[in-house]
Amino acid sequence: MEHVKQPVNQIASESAERVSGSVEETQALGERLGRWLRAGDVVALRGELGAGKTTLVQGIARGLGRAPGSIKSPTFVLMREYPGDIPLIHVDGYRLSGAPAAAWLDLELLLDPRKITLIEWADRFDELLPERRLIVELNHVSANRRRLRVSTAGEWPVTRVVELRKTLSQAVHHPPSAVDDQES
Ligand SMILES: Nc1ncnc2c1ncn2[C@@H]1O[C@H](COP(=O)(O)OP(=O)(O)OP(=O)(O)O)[C@@H](O)[C@H]1O
Ligand SMILES: [Mg+2]
Repeated sequence: MEHVKQPVNQIASESAERVSGSVEETQALGERLGRWLRAGDVVALRGELGAGKTTLVQGIARGLGRAPGSIKSPTFVLMREYPGDIPLIHVDGYRLSGAPAAAWLDLELLLDPRKITLIEWADRFDELLPERRLIVELNHVSANRRRLRVSTAGEWPVTRVVELRKTLSQAVHHPPSAVDDQES
């Protein structure tokens, strides 16, 4: 990734870790993120099978005024679009990898500045995504616990980063150090 010199004394990026102890907590974190998201934003979700990517997307959808139950895993369809004031695009890259992904995904459609794009298994075709994105990495801690690492990649306006920091600080109340199990 290209490194961009950032002005000193300004928050130019964010990287935070939260532990969720339940589906509801993961969705609540997603809901806050959803309220923070703006048209044109791209969220890259990483994490193994069952890590909670779709669960987080359901919360994000709720934060954007959608019924979370309406969000299904798009595994077999690659992509779903949920209409609304700001259309929501939900992509599942599980079956894709590398350059062939470009042939399957209409990236112009996906990366429409009027929409918000949420991509599961985004690491399979990271190189096709815009540099500016929010990365959420989810990992199993135990049966009901997940570690979520949220970070910005690329250049974000300082105001957005400040808002993100606020959003995350209100999200889940476990101190990050409270649970330090080894990942399963
Ligand atoms: N704290 C938690 N947060 C999210 N999901 C949890 C949590 N604890 C347990 N779970 C369970 O983990 C599973 C997460 O499934 P989900 O479909 O969200 O994962 P995913 O990362 O999208 O998987 P896939 O790679 O198959 O798409 C669900 O069965 C959910 O009930
Ligand atoms: Mg999923």
